[in-house]
Amino acid sequence: MMEDHFIELIDVTKIYSQGESPVVALDHVHAKISKGEYLAVTGKSGCGKSTLINIIGGLDSPDQGRVMIDGEDISLMNDRRLTLYRRDRVGIIFQFFNLLPILNLEENIALPYLLREGSNPPADKIENLLHEMGLHARRYHYPHELSGGEMQRVAICRALINDPEIILADEPTGNLDSASGKQVLEILRRLRDGHGKTVILVTHSQEGAAMADRVVRMSDGKLL
Ligand SMILES: Nc1ncnc2c1ncn2[C@@H]1O[C@H](COP(=O)(O)OP(=O)(O)O)[C@@H](O)[C@H]1O
Ligand SMILES: [Mg+2]
Repeated sequence: MMEDHFIELIDVTKIYSQGESPVVALDHVHAKISKGEYLAVTGKSGCGKSTLINIIGGLDSPDQGRVMIDGEDISLMNDRRLTLYRRDRVGIIFQFFNLLPILNLEENIALPYLLREGSNPPADKIENLLHEMGLHARRYHYPHELSGGEMQRVAICRALINDPEIILADEPTGNLDSASGKQVLEILRRLRDGHGKTVILVTHSQEGAAMADRVVRMSDGKLL
């Protein structure tokens, strides 16, 4: 019988060897995350949280260990399959939003879909996301015309446009005022409760951690 460990990290180690002395960003990490779980990851700056997110998201690869997603080791995937994994199964939200300044809000949201399908998403798909995130009146605005909270909500729409099962959020409220931050945390909670997403949130906020199903702390590349 296979256990329900949708995401499983087995003995994952990541060492950055730029510069003089190597940095052990992840040190023999073991983790099991169930489908539909909302996990919060906390810990001091530099303890390896972003590295963990990037490795689960297929943006970076481990030097050692296995990264099992739904029974498959993504660290063994070739470039093409890894690109498909990133594109179809994961949505990532960053602290600084990473929107494209030359695209309006709607175009930013449509981009991952366009890259996948070669055509724009169906109008109602964008429409529904805009409504859900309270951005409807802003659809033709550009990122520099939006508040931080609005930009982060656009980034969430963009992360959702390809219907990924996994949402990774790396300090998504780190650059927001507390009211906008709270709104983003509530949206993440809703993605888990209402949409059945598996959510991994890196956060410094007590409020963010309190909303998760489970909180794990990291220190010096280790999961405590
Ligand atoms: N691309 C990189 N090259 C060299 N060192 C890196 C790189 N990315 C991260 N690190 C180092 O790895 C450690 C963990 O970084 P990170 O995962 O970003 O931590 P956190 O997100 O918890 O602040 C830090 O010491 C950081 O300086
Ligand atoms: Mg980080």
